[in-house]
Amino acid sequence: MKNFYITTPIYYVNDAPHIGHAYTTVLADILTRYHQLFGYESFFLTGTDEHGQKVQQAAQKRGVDPQAHVDEYNLHFKELWNKMDIQYDHFIRTTDSDHKKFVSDSLQKLWDKGEIYAKEYEGWYSVGEERFFAEEELVDQKDPIGNRPVEWIKEKNYFFKMGKYQEKLIQYIEENPNWILPDFRKNEVLGFLKQELTDLCISRPKSRLSWGIPLPFDTDYVTYVWFDALINYVSAVQNKNFKNGAPLWPASYHLIGKDILTTHAIYWPTMLMALEIPLPTHILAHGWWLIDGSKMSKSSGTGVNPIDYMDQYGVDSFRYFLAREMVVGLDSTFSDDAFKRRINSDLANDLGNLANRVYKLVETHFNGVLPAATQIDSEAQKLIEYSKELKKKVYTNIEQVKLSTLIEDIMSLVRMVNRYLEIKAPWKLAKDTNLREELGTVLFISAEALRISLCFLSPIIPSKAQEALHMLGSKLESLDDLNWGKLKGGEVFGKASVLFPRIEITNTSKTQNSTQKPLFAKDVAAALDLRVAKILSVTNHPNADSLYVLNIDAGEAEPRIVCSGIKSSYSPQELEGRLVLLFANLKAAPLRGVMSSGMILAGETENKKTSLVSVPPESKIGERAFFQNIEASENRELKIKDFQKIQLEVQNKSIFYLDNRLEINQKPLTCEAPDGSTIH
Ligand code: MSP
Repeated sequence: MKNFYITTPIYYVNDAPHIGHAYTTVLADILTRYHQLFGYESFFLTGTDEHGQKVQQAAQKRGVDPQAHVDEYNLHFKELWNKMDIQYDHFIRTTDSDHKKFVSDSLQKLWDKGEIYAKEYEGWYSVGEERFFAEEELVDQKDPIGNRPVEWIKEKNYFFKMGKYQEKLIQYIEENPNWILPDFRKNEVLGFLKQELTDLCISRPKSRLSWGIPLPFDTDYVTYVWFDALINYVSAVQNKNFKNGAPLWPASYHLIGKDILTTHAIYWPTMLMALEIPLPTHILAHGWWLIDGSKMSKSSGTGVNPIDYMDQYGVDSFRYFLAREMVVGLDSTFSDDAFKRRINSDLANDLGNLANRVYKLVETHFNGVLPAATQIDSEAQKLIEYSKELKKKVYTNIEQVKLSTLIEDIMSLVRMVNRYLEIKAPWKLAKDTNLREELGTVLFISAEALRISLCFLSPIIPSKAQEALHMLGSKLESLDDLNWGKLKGGEVFGKASVLFPRIEITNTSKTQNSTQKPLFAKDVAAALDLRVAKILSVTNHPNADSLYVLNIDAGEAEPRIVCSGIKSSYSPQELEGRLVLLFANLKAAPLRGVMSSGMILAGETENKKTSLVSVPPESKIGERAFFQNIEASENRELKIKDFQKIQLEVQNKSIFYLDNRLEINQKPLTCEAPDGSTIH
C-alpha cells in the first residue's frame, strides 16, 4: 500500500473563511479521496495559524484576549470544513502545547548549532505584512504586497542563517524539477534566487508583539509567526507512522496559494535543511480566485461567502464548481452566473438527467430490477472500452494534479452515455416486445457506465455520488468497483431522488457591468493602455492545442497570465525573456478555462505567420505606448468589442491609428508585416 500525506496552509484566525480558503481545503480533500480510491493510506492535515500581529490586532479590535479570540475563531474553520464534507485527519492549532514545544525545541537546536545569531537591525517594517522590506522593494513608499504603510524601525533581533543555504537550495530545485509545481512557479522561485538570499529575521521584541511563542534563549522575544507556522507540518505528525511503519513526514504535497510561495519554497526548505529534516516531496501553488477580474477583498465587499452557495445550491455543487472551474495553478474568476451555468449544464443536465432517465426506464419497464446485457454491439463496446480506459486517465490526471481535465474526462463518459441513449432510444424499443432483450442491454450498459462515472466522481461530489449509486442499487466498496462489471443485472434499484435541481438564472448579473458608457470608435485609441511587458515563462494551454499560457511581467506587483494564440509561430524559447506589447486594460476573461488578463499584440506576415509587435530598444517593462497627437484618457477597462471598433494599421513597419503613429518616447513600435495589414 502506498502512502499519501497532504497539507493545506494553516489559516489565520483574524477573519471569516472565504472561497480562497475553501478552495485549498477542498482541493486537499479531493486529492486525499482520490488517493484513497486508488488504495493509498492517507493523512490530511489542516489547521489554524493563531499567533502573530494580525491575530493580536484582530483580538484587540474585538476587545478580547487573544487566547479567547483564537479559541472562538478556529471554530469557524472547523464548522466550514464540516459543512463542506472535508475529511481531515488532524486539525492543528499553533497554540497547541505540543506544537509550541516543538517550535521551541527546534529554535533551541538551531541556536545550539549556531544557525541563529543576534543583530541590531533597522529597516522598513510593514505591520500588515509583518515583515521588513528593502527600500527598493517598496512601491510608492508602501509595502509592495498589500500596499500598506511601512515604518522605519530599529531594534535588536535574531536571525536565521538562511543565506548560507542559497546554493544548496538552487541545486535541490534544479535536481528535483517536480518539487515546485506548476513549472512556471519553479522558474519564479529560481528567478528570485538569482539575487543574494539574505538571512531571515525570526524574532519580534515582546514590547511590539507579545502574542507568540517565546524564544527559548531570550524570553524578551517571541518567534516570527511564519517560523512558528511552517513548522506545523512537521510538529503535527511527529512520531506518527503509516500502517507500514513509514513515518508520515515528509509530506507528499503542501498545497498553497501563489501568494505564499516564497515562504514555502525558500524559508521552509532552508529551515528544514538547517534542522536536518528531509524536504516535502511537492509544493503545489494554485492561483487565485478573482471576483470580476480582481482579487477579492472584504473591504470592497467582493468576498464570496461559501456558506451562502452551499445553503442555496448544495455542498456537492459548490465542491464541483471549485474543482472544475479552476485550472490548478492559474487564476480563475468566480461569478454567480458562471456558477449557475456550470452546475446546470454539467450536473443538472448531463449527470442528473442521465441518472433520472436510466432509473425511470428500469422502473417502468423492468419493475425497478436491472436487466442483464445479452448482446453487445459496437456502440456498447465503445462505452465499455472508454469506461475501462478511464481508470488510467483519472490516475494520470491525479498524479499531475490536473483536476479540471480529470473531471472533463469523467463527464465525457456521462455525455457518451447520454448520446448512446439518444441513438438507441430505449423508449421506442420498449414499444416492441420483440426488442425486449435489446432494451435490457441498453439499460444495463447505461447503468454500468453511469455507475463507473459516479465512482470516479465520488471524491468530488461524495454524497451525491453515493445517493446516485444507491438509486442504481449499488455502492462504492473497493478498488475493484472502479472496473467494468460490478453490476451484473438483477440489482434492485433504490429510492429515486432529484440529484441536482436546475437553477433558475435571472439576468441580474448581466446588467451589473453596464454602468460604464460604451465607447465611440474615436475614443478607443485614447483609452487603449498599451504597455511593454516581458514574457517570463511559457506553458502549453491545458485545454487548447493552439494556445500558450504566458506568464508575463507588465511592471505590476504581480505577474499576469495571458493566453495567446501564437503557438504555431513561436517556440517557447523564442518567447521567454522577450519584450512584447501588452493590451493591458482589456477585461480579463477565461479562454478555454484559463483566465487571461490582457492580450499580446501582433500582426501577420505575408506567409500568414504571426509577427509580434516589437518595442523600441531600451524600452522598460511597464512603459506605456501612445499614439502621436492623441492624449490618453482616464484609465478604464475595455472589451474586445471596443478594440474591434478601430483598426491599427501597419505602414512601413510602423503602426498607425489613422495618421497617428504608435510610439514610446518618440520612437516607433514596429511589426514585420506588410503595409496595410492590421494589428490584432
Ligand atoms: N497563515 C498563512 C499560511 C501559513 S502556512 C504555514 C496564511 N493564511 S491565510 O489565511 O491568509 O491564507 C491561506 C491561504 O488562502 C493561502 O494559500 C492563500 O493563497 C489562500 N487564499 C487567500 N485568498 C485567496 C484567493 N482569493 N483565492 C485562492 N486562494 C487564496 O497565508
